[in-house]
Amino acid sequence: MCGIVGYIGKREALPILIKGLERLEYRGYDSAGVALMGRGKIFVYKKKGKVAALKKFIKSKDKKSLAGGIGIAHTRWATHGEPSDRNAHPLLSNSENIAVIHNGIIENYLPLKKILIEKGYKFKSDTDTEVLANLIEDVKKNTKVSIDEAVRLALQQVVGAYAIAVLSKDDKETIIIAKAGSPVVIGVGKGEHFIASDATPLVEYTDKVIYLDDYEMAIIKRGKLTVKTIQNEIKNPYVQKLEIKIDELEKGGFAHFMLKEIYEQPKSIRDSMRGRINVEGGSVKLGGIEKYQNKLVNAKRILILACGTSLHAGMEAKYFFEELAKVPVLVEYASEFRYRSPVVFENDLVLVISQSGETADTLAALKLAKEKGTTIFGICNVIGASIPRATDAGIYTHAGPEIGVASSKAFTAQITVLLLIALYLASSQGTLNKKEMVKILSELENIPKKVEKALLTNATVIKIAKKFKNAKDFIYLGRGYGYPLALEGALKLKEISYIHAEGYPAGEMKHGPIALVDSNMPVVFVADKGGSYEKVISNMMEVKARKGVIIAIINEGDESAKKIADYVIEIPKTLEFMMPLVASVPLQLLAYHIALLRGCNIDKPRNLAKSVTVE
Ligand code: F6R
Repeated sequence: MCGIVGYIGKREALPILIKGLERLEYRGYDSAGVALMGRGKIFVYKKKGKVAALKKFIKSKDKKSLAGGIGIAHTRWATHGEPSDRNAHPLLSNSENIAVIHNGIIENYLPLKKILIEKGYKFKSDTDTEVLANLIEDVKKNTKVSIDEAVRLALQQVVGAYAIAVLSKDDKETIIIAKAGSPVVIGVGKGEHFIASDATPLVEYTDKVIYLDDYEMAIIKRGKLTVKTIQNEIKNPYVQKLEIKIDELEKGGFAHFMLKEIYEQPKSIRDSMRGRINVEGGSVKLGGIEKYQNKLVNAKRILILACGTSLHAGMEAKYFFEELAKVPVLVEYASEFRYRSPVVFENDLVLVISQSGETADTLAALKLAKEKGTTIFGICNVIGASIPRATDAGIYTHAGPEIGVASSKAFTAQITVLLLIALYLASSQGTLNKKEMVKILSELENIPKKVEKALLTNATVIKIAKKFKNAKDFIYLGRGYGYPLALEGALKLKEISYIHAEGYPAGEMKHGPIALVDSNMPVVFVADKGGSYEKVISNMMEVKARKGVIIAIINEGDESAKKIADYVIEIPKTLEFMMPLVASVPLQLLAYHIALLRGCNIDKPRNLAKSVTVE
């Protein structure tokens, strides 16, 4: 969702800001803008639409207004007020002395706005951000303090989530940023600082970063940085090393990030288990949760909280935690959990899963579970993000940056790490003996090769995609480990191709969805030779009897399934609970190729954002 970029230093700010906005495009947005500190005023340029539209708009502007080494920029994902030039950020205060960009939602903006209107302030946008710009101005006018102090005092009146960057004509050598609930990171260079809502725009300039904590602000002058809390306590910022490499942020010859990320899965799965498994010894080592091993081993129940694709990874995990470690698992949408009165016990263990580590609902669910006294483990892909910082312990997926909005390699990396936790628990509890562990781990070590083989289905998938690119609806069915995959396959298709798709447990089909089946309905089955194979085959027969068109993901050489299905995609056989790591690939490719043939914007599907930082 919304993206923030800022620069203060000796270089020209504008090219850095624009490049930064382009790096953040993957987060999803509907308008973009910049504010540059000029000699006499703050120059603000903003446009509805893509960063390209902003670049075009800026080209015609007076060069002098675009020069200088201080600026802030934003990509907006509309919450308050439609996407438009007027609602795009930066927003100026009435005197045009203060420019603000903002991610998040200011929940009490209406009462604040009412007070400001009574004081004579006029509003040109529908945004909560303009309220904040005028609030800062009003505080400054009334208290005669410096701009950073005015920001600090104004934020004390604000309820909600924010990451903000502020420029003020009254202090032309400063950018002020602050954070509560929405992420912001500062890149530290030599005599210069970079600001961004995630680390991707910073990578090409520096590998030293500072993550602000909630209710902290930074006052950044050329080459000088002060961090304090909103309560005015000075903090010693912790500078950490950024591990992302610049080539991980490029497409590397692929047409889309999503395709590149699908093809990266052998590596991302391998990286996510590297150094964590000892095949010969039949053991798993998870440094990130070692200190909390007892909490895991003694947990009476595991509660998994996540959203979207991460939730589907959690659903797969439920099945293998129960099968391998014999511990009951409850999987719940974070967005539901946080708004009801969940019963959580102290000896539950909560696992939150999030690629971005910033999903607002997941973060809120985590906080609610924490209030109830449970131990929280996180499984995240983005190092230093809000979720891993709020958990007691955790394990990172080493999938590398995922730029395509539709999650692919993060999903299989999450399943890999979840499986490692289940195996760690199973061996600690003795529900798996050493011999069984060795067998499972040898297969796991082999999985990247099987995923490579699954990628060879691409040509077959393209043929199938051509046949079905104009379908209006799809049904995805699976049982056991195939069921969460059916949900995930359907989610992938709908989000990038905009075709309506339903994922269902195959056994539930006869309780309703079978009514949808006719000769126009493609039905995708996950039909590997697992424990429910025979049952899935019966479900395929039922669909065939109703003239539904069957596309089946089957194990290599499964002649019986081939006789029933209209189209088959053959994948290598593996242990049943590892099948999702392999079978995900053709499901992702099918969604990708259908979307491609339909001319969809694959990496940035409409209405979607990569990190969903609003509720
Ligand atoms: C689907 C997708 C989303 C995310 C969801 C959670 O392809 O990307 O459904 O999985 O928004 O995001 P994270 O994992 O970042 O918490």
